[in-house]
Amino acid sequence: MSEPRTGTGATSARADNEQVPDPVFEIRDIEAGYGRAALVLRGLSVTVTAGSVVCLVGPNGAGKSTVLKVASGLLAPRSGSVLLKGADVTGLGTRALLAKGIAHVLQGHSVFREMTVEENVRLGAYTVGDAELVEQRCARVREVFPVVGERWDATAGLLSGGQQKQVELARAMMLDPAVVLLDEPSMGLDPKTTTALFDQIARMRELGTAVLLVEQNARRALEMADVGCVLDLGRVHISGPAADLLADPALGRLYLGAAPNASAASGAPDAATAPGPRPPADDEPPTNTAPDDGSRP
Ligand SMILES: Nc1ncnc2c1ncn2[C@@H]1O[C@H](COP(=O)(O)OP(=O)(O)OP(=O)(O)O)[C@@H](O)[C@H]1O
Ligand SMILES: [Mg+2]
Repeated sequence: MSEPRTGTGATSARADNEQVPDPVFEIRDIEAGYGRAALVLRGLSVTVTAGSVVCLVGPNGAGKSTVLKVASGLLAPRSGSVLLKGADVTGLGTRALLAKGIAHVLQGHSVFREMTVEENVRLGAYTVGDAELVEQRCARVREVFPVVGERWDATAGLLSGGQQKQVELARAMMLDPAVVLLDEPSMGLDPKTTTALFDQIARMRELGTAVLLVEQNARRALEMADVGCVLDLGRVHISGPAADLLADPALGRLYLGAAPNASAASGAPDAATAPGPRPPADDEPPTNTAPDDGSRP
């Protein structure tokens, strides 16, 4: 096993002796922040290869969600570049990036509660003109996300939080994206539902989708991920094969908190993302209270 690397370097390898596939998605030397406030990201680089899951962990306020906002075009970086399949897409907006294959599943719940599961899922493909292709993709997401298939005709607002999250993943997969950005998908879910959700993210990987995942359940997410990146002070502090990060006792103590069994059993957030020395700012929305009123997808 290779050693986890420290610094701002990009991350792409699963293991040193394995052939590394071409990157699907890269952010390079990104500097980004909000308005006139100090920079949040200070030269941050991450690379995601096809069919792999890269997991970002780090304390509250480290900039994890900001990375995903830059990646999906919600926030323009001050410098650095965003590359999709080698093409520079820096500065393009969310609509253009979505059309090019970058899907962002936001933190919290974002289904249209009054609409059926089917209607929610089909919304993900509203730009796809080929009706047959849409049907094929519906069939695929119903197979990958069993709850979506079973509750196809149900009103989405009646589903549990974990079930609604599956609907969101299914909706994101309807455009057959090259990369899916997932912000804390297990937030508020019990350990069993979290396990099922991570199994489905692994299935998305099997289908060839690249996943950039932000998680508070750092240990459990790293057990499923291929590559882990620990963010701190707006940079990638340490990165490497997820298994190596998990196996490093010092890293575990510093960033991953309690022993695996304790963490899994309690379902508690890990130290990497538990409230720490840098609490979220007052103007930050409380987590898991995001649009639940069906006002926007
Ligand atoms: N819309 C915004 N306007 C101003 N500052 C913001 C905004 N969103 C985030 N920030 C600030 O940027 C910094 C990084 O926030 P970000 O949400 O990326 O952190 P995070 O690592 O995702 O944290 P958490 O684990 O709490 O979700 C924080 O200091 C936060 O207060
Ligand atoms: Mg966040």
